[in-house]
Amino acid sequence: MSGRSTVHVEVTAIEQITPQIKHFTLRPVDRAPLPAFSGGSHVVVVMRAAHRVHRNPYSLLSAPSDRSAYQIAVRRMEESRGGSEFMHTQLQVGSHLEIAHPVNLFPLDKIARKHVLIAGGIGITPFLAQLEDLHDGAIPYELHYAVRAAEHAAFAERLRAREGGRVRFYFDNAAQAIDFDGLLSGQPLGTHVYVCGPAGMIDRVLATARRWGWPDSHVHWEKFSAPPSGRAFEVFLARAQIGVKVLPDQSLLEAIEAAGVEVPYLCRGGVCGFCQTRVLEVDGELLHHDHYLSDADKLRGKSIMPCVSRANCKSLVLDL
Ligand code: FES
Repeated sequence: MSGRSTVHVEVTAIEQITPQIKHFTLRPVDRAPLPAFSGGSHVVVVMRAAHRVHRNPYSLLSAPSDRSAYQIAVRRMEESRGGSEFMHTQLQVGSHLEIAHPVNLFPLDKIARKHVLIAGGIGITPFLAQLEDLHDGAIPYELHYAVRAAEHAAFAERLRAREGGRVRFYFDNAAQAIDFDGLLSGQPLGTHVYVCGPAGMIDRVLATARRWGWPDSHVHWEKFSAPPSGRAFEVFLARAQIGVKVLPDQSLLEAIEAAGVEVPYLCRGGVCGFCQTRVLEVDGELLHHDHYLSDADKLRGKSIMPCVSRANCKSLVLDL
């Protein structure tokens, strides 16, 4: 998908649900049914700020059966490069936005015999839509939801009311922690585990699952990286024959888009591989921040994921 395929939506409700998280309801401007999606999907929200365009991915948390509106939740990031700041400070009820069609890179497995969902902080959002899919089925599931303190547990009331004993909360400030070994050592055959949250939590779940012999196909994780800031650098786009400057707080992808060149993308978080771009020349170091290329590919230096990666170099020439 490129930035061309978007739906125009209006913000019809905004609610501050924790000290850092706002919950947004987005309705299509033309009131036609929104594109269908399944639990675990995200949309890329296009934010047109005064001097630049931000495109950030957010999980859809509304019921997939409701195509009259989408709901997303946005955490205000202290190190925000502008996207979450824009969502928190610039949007009001009545504001208009563009969103790309939903994409699901974190679906529930269709033949799982049981689902174990593990969320940390804002990582709860993809699970909210998945739970809507799970309610009516016969497949057992459980949700483990860890946050710093009770006031940071977004959607806690909704989860308690709807999930009852199937959800368990863990509060860091009460010294409660998920026992990953206990959780992953005793699950019935055919169970799939899903984790979304801070990188440390995801890494622990993956390591624990590996230790207990879980097949990779039964372990699912969503780890979108925000593009990190860095030094400014120059890139030359060989096919377009233009030079582009990448500013310190801008991603390589954003800089290329701002120059009018389209690059395909789905996640904008270093996961899907859609933005993979051939490196024709580099005089310096590529700074890979994606989760897609293998370590060997990163060493080879022939490809880059411009959504999250950048370069520390004198010159970089890309096949664009
Ligand atoms: S858009 Fe998915 S890896 Fe770059």
